[in-house]
Amino acid sequence: MPETLTDFRSQLDNVVAEASMKGGVGKTSTTANLAGITAASGQRVLVVDLDPQGNLGEDLGYRGTELDDEGRQLFDAVAMGEKLTPIVGVRPNLDVIPGGRMTGKLTTQLAGDGMSGVDVTEALARALAPLAPQYSLVLLDCPPGEGIMQTQALVAARWLIIPTLPDDASKSGIFQIARRVEELRRYNPTLGILGVLLWGIGSTSTRVQANARAELREMLGEDVPVFESYIRHAQASAVAARNSGQLAHELAKEAQDQDPFAWRKQLLDGEPATRRIGSSAGHLAADYIAVTREVLQTINTHTAQTNQEPENEGASA
Ligand SMILES: Nc1ncnc2c1ncn2[C@@H]1O[C@H](COP(=O)(O)OP(=O)(O)OP(=O)(O)O)[C@@H](O)[C@H]1O
Ligand SMILES: [Mg+2]
Repeated sequence: MPETLTDFRSQLDNVVAEASMKGGVGKTSTTANLAGITAASGQRVLVVDLDPQGNLGEDLGYRGTELDDEGRQLFDAVAMGEKLTPIVGVRPNLDVIPGGRMTGKLTTQLAGDGMSGVDVTEALARALAPLAPQYSLVLLDCPPGEGIMQTQALVAARWLIIPTLPDDASKSGIFQIARRVEELRRYNPTLGILGVLLWGIGSTSTRVQANARAELREMLGEDVPVFESYIRHAQASAVAARNSGQLAHELAKEAQDQDPFAWRKQLLDGEPATRRIGSSAGHLAADYIAVTREVLQTINTHTAQTNQEPENEGASA
């Protein structure tokens, strides 16, 4: 008899989905940077790209290389029930299951089988369960909108992070995904919203931010927490990072390592111009580091609370 999902739910305790109903709110950038910083700190991380766009491959720099299977592993595991085997060592401690063209095919195939089928809904969770315990953290990068891949992610994950722009349309998307979490409780009773992440904030003014936070809190109530840390708007650095397949902290390091007098050599000796990266890469990296710390601390706090609960029950019994 096949295992029910609850049989291996505990194997998925470290799985975190980044999802939103809205497109372009920083799901992929946040996933990539969170993964990269956590891995650089020495913890083993797996990232699964569930998006046919395959943007994660751009952020991590494997897009179009021999490492990029464009989602074939994911297709074989989810649609055919084969063993899921990640690409190992995209960075030290960081493994990836890529998305891309084949993920689009997978989406079509699963949608064709009907969204309500238990096997279809739980397929990713089943594929991930044997792999997830090998990692400290497993991140799922979802495509935008309420499709079958987002459903799969929400059924597999223990936690959900909802990145959002501080505009009204993005904020109403939070309600929609919170409703989706409730709808999927029958498949995944342990799924919790770890936090809403304010992303692409145009102003670092504390007053503007405090207002954005107060509005969110009023809208969402106490049940949906908002992270204290945030990601600022830094488009030039973000574009440079994605174009060069580097994460914000890697780009910032490159900027730091650049010869500060390169411009003089270019002017006086006619040396070819080197790529200049502004200090905004450093600020963006600092934001991602703060977010990573807060995310990991929040997970640890919840885990410690959960681990204490049976003891307390036992003590009072
Ligand atoms: N800090 C930032 N400030 C401004 N723009 C950014 C920032 N980080 C990333 N971007 C740009 O915003 C766009 C959307 O980012 P990203 O791909 O992370 O969002 P997403 O939610 O994953 O999008 P999708 O819904 O298409 O998957 C990208 O083109 C990226 O270059
Ligand atoms: Mg994305």
